[in-house]
Amino acid sequence: MTFGGFDCATGCPNGAERLSALDFPIGQVRRVASVNPPGDGEVDETKRNLLKLLGVVAVAGAGGGGLAGAAIQYIQPPTVGLSSYPKVQLFDTDGAALTVDKVESEYNATTSADLIFNYPLRNEPNFLLNLYPAGGTPNGTNGAENVPYGVGTHKSIVAYSAICQHLGCPAPAISYYPPGTCAKTFSNASYPTLSFYLHCSCHGSTYDVTDSASNLTGPAVLPLPQVLLETDSAGNIYANGMRPGSPPVNGHIDTLQGDYGVGSTASLVKETPIILCSFPA
Ligand code: FES
Repeated sequence: MTFGGFDCATGCPNGAERLSALDFPIGQVRRVASVNPPGDGEVDETKRNLLKLLGVVAVAGAGGGGLAGAAIQYIQPPTVGLSSYPKVQLFDTDGAALTVDKVESEYNATTSADLIFNYPLRNEPNFLLNLYPAGGTPNGTNGAENVPYGVGTHKSIVAYSAICQHLGCPAPAISYYPPGTCAKTFSNASYPTLSFYLHCSCHGSTYDVTDSASNLTGPAVLPLPQVLLETDSAGNIYANGMRPGSPPVNGHIDTLQGDYGVGSTASLVKETPIILCSFPA
């Protein structure tokens, strides 16, 4: 069947809900900085800038009142953020530590939709995906392995920003489409038929989950930022930085600025995806 001029698989889920997807509060709600005070290990830039301001005013006041007004013009606007990427341990939806064993038994290329955790800031949601299929050899139609920066037995566990790089629609307007959800397939250097991806219902941007969330369709022109995952000897999973070359999270001048940090842990939450099998021609 077709929907809105785009191809759409038989039984395309939520196919009649394009308008509701477009009505989603595009990118704004979750990117508003938290009002809560910062937790451990965070730099409160607001306080730091206020101290800078007071220091400058004091010095300028001692040297002449006219300098104070001039100096104030060069004070950076107050903001909050972090000075560096924290190492954050991830926890599953049931509150247990997220381990490689747990991910590989609970989540796979089909069941990964939509697992979200915030990192490094509270208003920066990310997808946690295990791209390995439940059974069989990954071939692009059922799952993938050895993906860039993947962790786990098959290097198939990855994390990408859940805020679209076009105009900032957050999950669930941008959602993970498990293998075969829609008829549309793509191809890349590893897989001639790629049937799973991240797709944004707002305007149709699609991202290759097997290749650092590079662009498969626009209008977005930048990949989704990729969170670097790492494991310890017990298999616990941590977020620790961003892939070199990742753009800033949409809506942030710098991924480390724009809200308070998440602290030392972050938990997965499950969201109901908005799925729409419509892709730019
Ligand atoms: S905000 Fe995602 S395609 Fe426009």
